[in-house]
Amino acid sequence: MKLQGKHIIDASDLSVGELNLIIDLALRMRANIEEFSELCKGKILATLFYEPSTRTRLSFESAMLKMGGSVIGFSDAETSSVKKGENIADTIRVVNNYANIIVMRHPREGAPLLASQYSEIPVINGGDGGHQHPTQTLTDLVTIKYYKEHIKDIKIAICGDLLFGRSVHSLLKTLSRYPNIEFVLISPSELRIPHHLKDSIIEEHNVKIYETTSLEECINDVNVLYMTRIQKERFFSEDEYIKLKDSYILTPEKLKYARKDLLLMHPLPRVNEISYEVDIDPRAKYFEQAKLGVFARMSLMALLLGRGC
Ligand code: CP
Repeated sequence: MKLQGKHIIDASDLSVGELNLIIDLALRMRANIEEFSELCKGKILATLFYEPSTRTRLSFESAMLKMGGSVIGFSDAETSSVKKGENIADTIRVVNNYANIIVMRHPREGAPLLASQYSEIPVINGGDGGHQHPTQTLTDLVTIKYYKEHIKDIKIAICGDLLFGRSVHSLLKTLSRYPNIEFVLISPSELRIPHHLKDSIIEEHNVKIYETTSLEECINDVNVLYMTRIQKERFFSEDEYIKLKDSYILTPEKLKYARKDLLLMHPLPRVNEISYEVDIDPRAKYFEQAKLGVFARMSLMALLLGRGC
């Protein structure tokens, strides 16, 4: 297993062994962060964000700073030379001289893959259009391991926008490689997971998938409930978004029917698919999930930079 120098564009760029290595190091970092405070001393992270972000960009920045490294970058492409017409290839070739590792978010699917083809330093996909979000998946796996102690024998319901949600696509592709995982996919019929994704998961991993439009129907029977927002920015029509935006709202009333040991997750940002009253439920772990995202990204960067131990 050699992660040093790799690009991470798609969840499938990492084997299960590599995923477990990253998860275990992330949890060691969480347990004793001081031990790792100089791990990336002298290293520079470039954050190239062509699309808005709070968690991904700031958790990457926090992760590098916590390991003694430094951060450069932009959070709005309008303030970079993209505004003057510079293409991704030229931007990446230049940033290669300024940094040791890059994380890129872009509204266009495939943009981080293109970037990786012009980069001699690792490029990490921080989310590309409705395609993939591999470091959100690392965050999700670290959270499942932390709260459930293993990543196997899990029935997970994923609810919301399964068509455009890149966090969902990465999670499905990755979790289906773990033992005995069952998926309950809850969405409006307009926002079901893409056929090609469903077919490939079933063909390659023979996982059980049950699709439904009803959250109430299955909330009592899952170990993990992963809520997601309806992705307004990916809709072609405002009217269609308005029609679907409140398809699912998780309330304390609905949560009464869930298991006592349910793990309730959300990649965030939340819009209104989880009511604020749910936040005090001990099963709601989405803010802890965002916190664990820092350790997931610390671990990933350390290993890609050859500093993992
Ligand atoms: N979960 C996630 O990707 O959040 P941001 O869009 O705020 O980065």
